[in-house]
Amino acid sequence: MRARKFLAFLLFPVLFAPVVVFAQAHDASVANHQPHYYDVADWDIQPTDVTYADHIAPILQRSCIQCHRPGGGGPMSFMSYEEVRPWAPVIMYRTAIRDRMGAMPPWYVEKDIGIDGFESDYSLSDMDLAMIQAWARNGAQRGNPDNEPAPVVFSDSDAWTVGEPDLILRGPDVTRPPIGPDWWGDIGLVETGLSEDRYVRSIEVREFNDVPADLDSNTVGGRYIFHHMTYTSGILSGDGSYVEQDSRVSWPIHEVGRNADVFSEKAGRLLQANSALHLGAAHMHSNGRETTGHLEFGITFFPVGYEPAYTRRGPRTGNGVDVDIVPNKANQQIHNYVVLQQHTKVMAFEPHLHAPGVRMCLEAIWGHNNFTLNCVGYDHNWVKQYMYKDDKAPLLPKGTILHTTAYMDTTTSNPNLADPRNWAGGGRRSVSNMFIDLGYSVSLTEEQFQAEMATRRANMKDRNDYDVGCPLCWAPAVEQSVAQGND
Ligand code: HEC
Repeated sequence: MRARKFLAFLLFPVLFAPVVVFAQAHDASVANHQPHYYDVADWDIQPTDVTYADHIAPILQRSCIQCHRPGGGGPMSFMSYEEVRPWAPVIMYRTAIRDRMGAMPPWYVEKDIGIDGFESDYSLSDMDLAMIQAWARNGAQRGNPDNEPAPVVFSDSDAWTVGEPDLILRGPDVTRPPIGPDWWGDIGLVETGLSEDRYVRSIEVREFNDVPADLDSNTVGGRYIFHHMTYTSGILSGDGSYVEQDSRVSWPIHEVGRNADVFSEKAGRLLQANSALHLGAAHMHSNGRETTGHLEFGITFFPVGYEPAYTRRGPRTGNGVDVDIVPNKANQQIHNYVVLQQHTKVMAFEPHLHAPGVRMCLEAIWGHNNFTLNCVGYDHNWVKQYMYKDDKAPLLPKGTILHTTAYMDTTTSNPNLADPRNWAGGGRRSVSNMFIDLGYSVSLTEEQFQAEMATRRANMKDRNDYDVGCPLCWAPAVEQSVAQGND
C-alpha cells in the first residue's frame, strides 16, 4: 500500500496541475479577418523558385479540383496552368483567410487551438499557404511543364465522393415553379427493399434535376431546388403507409453543399429489413426556372454480420429556441452547457448556425479544467461536418460539462445577412437563428471508456505527451483510488 500511496502522491501534481486552455478573447468579426501570411524561406525554399509545376499543381489536385473542374461545384476550373493563372491573387487571398467565412478550401477548423485529427481533412498546411503566397507574389510562374503531375481523371462514379454505393435509393420527383415562396414539408417514403438488417458505413445525398449542366450560375442557388432536408428511417408499417415510431433511426441532415457522412467503424448506423426512409421535412426553393428534381441516397454498408461496438447516442448540444441576436453588432456570443450523464466519445463536430453565424467553439469543462476541443469558423453558404479520427475523438468522462459558444456578426460586413438592421430570434429560416452542434457522440460503458483510454495511452510517447480531448487519460486507475480509500 505504501508504494501505491507514494505513486498517488507523485500523480497528484500531474492530475491537478491547472491545465487551463481558455478560449482566447477572440475577434470573430468579419470586418477583421486576419489573413495568415507566411514566409516560404522558413521552409528553406527560395520564394522565386516556387512554380505551378513543382509546388502549386499538387496542392490544387489534393484540395481544390474535386470542385474546381468542369461539372464540379466550383465556379471555375483549376485543371490547367492557363485556367489557374489569372486567379493567382484571388487564390492567395481566399486561402490566406484560412478558417474564416469565404475561405478556400471550405474547411474552417482553426489550426492554432484544439484537436488536430479529422477524417478527410483537405485543408492547407502553413507550408502550402507559404508556397501559394510566394508563387502569387512572384508572377505565378509555370515552371517546367514536364514536372506537372499527371492530370487527375474523373470518372462518373467519382461523382459519389465516398465511392460506388452498394445501394442507391431514389426519392420522389418534385417540381418547383420558377418563382415562388419557399416550401417546407413531407415528401413521403422511400422503401429500401432490404430483406435483412444492415449497418451503414456511409451515406451521401445528391440532387439530380433538369437544370442544364452548363448553366452559367455563380451560386449553388441557381442549380438546385432542395435547400435541405431532415429525414429518418425505420421499419415499414403493415400497410406500408408509415414507419414504426419505435424503430426510427435518424440520419445526418441533407443540405446543399454539405459533405457525405462516413460513420465510424465502431458506430455504423442501422437500416432494418423491410425499412423505408421517411423524407419528413424537405425545404424546397425556387431557383428562377421551372425545375423538376429528386434526391438520390448513395449508401455503402459494413459487411453482413458486422455489429457496432457503440449503439447509444450521446446528447445533442445547442439551443434552437432562446436565441436573441441584436442588430448591427459583431462578436455576439451565445452559450450552451450540457452535463454529460454518461462517459461520452464525441465522434463529429458540426456547427450549425444561420446567416449571422461566424464561429463556434466546443469546450469540455472537467473539474476546474477547461479544454478547448475545437474552434471552427462558420459560413452559412457551407455546412460542414468535421469527423474526428478514431484515435483523436474527445473521450469525456461523465460529469464533464460540454460548453458550446457561438459567435455572431450582424454588421454590414457579413455578406450572408439579408438585413443587418433587424433583431432576430430562433427559427427555422436562415434569416432567423439556430445554434446547434449537429455532430454526434456515443455513450460508453465504464469498460468501453477504460479500453478507449488504454488505447489512447498506448499511443502516447510518455507522461509529458498530452491529449487535449482526454482529460482522464493520465488519471490513476479507479481500482487504485478504491484500494486507497480502504487503506
Ligand atoms: C467543396 C468544393 C470546393 C473546394 C474543395 C474548393 N472550392 Fe473554391 N469555390 C467553391 C465554390 C462553390 C465557390 C463559389 C462560392 C464562393 O465564392 O465562396 C468557390 C470559389 C472560389 C474562389 C473565388 C472565386 C471568385 O469568383 O472570387 C477561389 C479563388 C477559389 N474558390 C479557390 C479555391 C482553391 C485554391 C481551392 C483549394 C485550395 C478551392 N477553391 C477548393 C468550391 C470549392
